[in-house]
Amino acid sequence: MKRDFLTLWDLSSDEITALLKRAIELKSGMDANRCPLIGRSVGLLFEKASTRTRVSFEVGIYQLGAQSIYLNPREIQLGRGETIGDTAKVLSRYLNAIVIRTYAHSTLEEFASHSSIPVINGLTDLHHPCQALADLMTILEKKGKLKGIHLAYIGDGNNVSNSLIEAASRMEMNLTIACPEGYEPDPDLLERARSSAKSEIIILRDPREAAGRADAIYTDIWVSMGQEDKAEEKKRKFKNYQINSALLPCAKKDAIVLHCLPAHRGEEITDDVMDGPQSAVFDQAENRLHTQKALLEFLLT
Ligand code: CP
Ligand code: NVA
Repeated sequence: MKRDFLTLWDLSSDEITALLKRAIELKSGMDANRCPLIGRSVGLLFEKASTRTRVSFEVGIYQLGAQSIYLNPREIQLGRGETIGDTAKVLSRYLNAIVIRTYAHSTLEEFASHSSIPVINGLTDLHHPCQALADLMTILEKKGKLKGIHLAYIGDGNNVSNSLIEAASRMEMNLTIACPEGYEPDPDLLERARSSAKSEIIILRDPREAAGRADAIYTDIWVSMGQEDKAEEKKRKFKNYQINSALLPCAKKDAIVLHCLPAHRGEEITDDVMDGPQSAVFDQAENRLHTQKALLEFLLT
């Protein structure tokens, strides 16, 4: 029976714990010459731009001994009207897994429902679960634990925040999100996460209040891919939702700073914070590679 990774709910807490342990082993160089996926092929079907997700998957797939095939939707028949279902059925006959980056989460779900191979969410408008795995690994590396950690997210209630909510619920982290009114995370997803959480998930308005007690303080761009028409309005609404040298001292002294990247320096985060001693953003970006290799091993072996 194939397993998909469309949201964090597709993995249990124990599975996430084991996956993070394996990612840390892989990062240490252990098994560097082991190629468990030799002879396999993994597709990458991306409808949006990507630096980290695309490159970390392509490199990780190669390091595991498999082949990656990048599929630009404009260059395959999907772009000329072949249905998602037919595309999924055909690609399932060639590939062993597929990573998809698209707009509507329902497109990904439709693909997965017609596919007989594991489907991995490489970002949708609603979720970014591969990012959340790397975020968890980074917090674990830097703080030594996840349970009981206080994470503050300052900014848009978007795909990244939605997956962080699920990650916090799964791993018993406390999460406080500060966002302007009207930019909250998805309410259904929030309710589900809260109902199964043993930790607190709080939404409030004041970034300083959210940052208080934080072991880690996280932000993402204000204008996500596909929202370009709302750029001016969002930049106005989010101007006070910036991680800067005035906000950072509200968090614990040893708090780390996280950002999924790409950053819009001078908007949601300032240069001094992003390049400062508390920043873990480039370790976090690196951890995409290790967590995704662990994920591919888990789904395909
Ligand atoms: N964080 C992230 O997913 O980056 P890319 O958009 O560059 O893949
Ligand atoms: N929220 C951002 C994340 C980019 C990795 C977006 O969807 O564009």
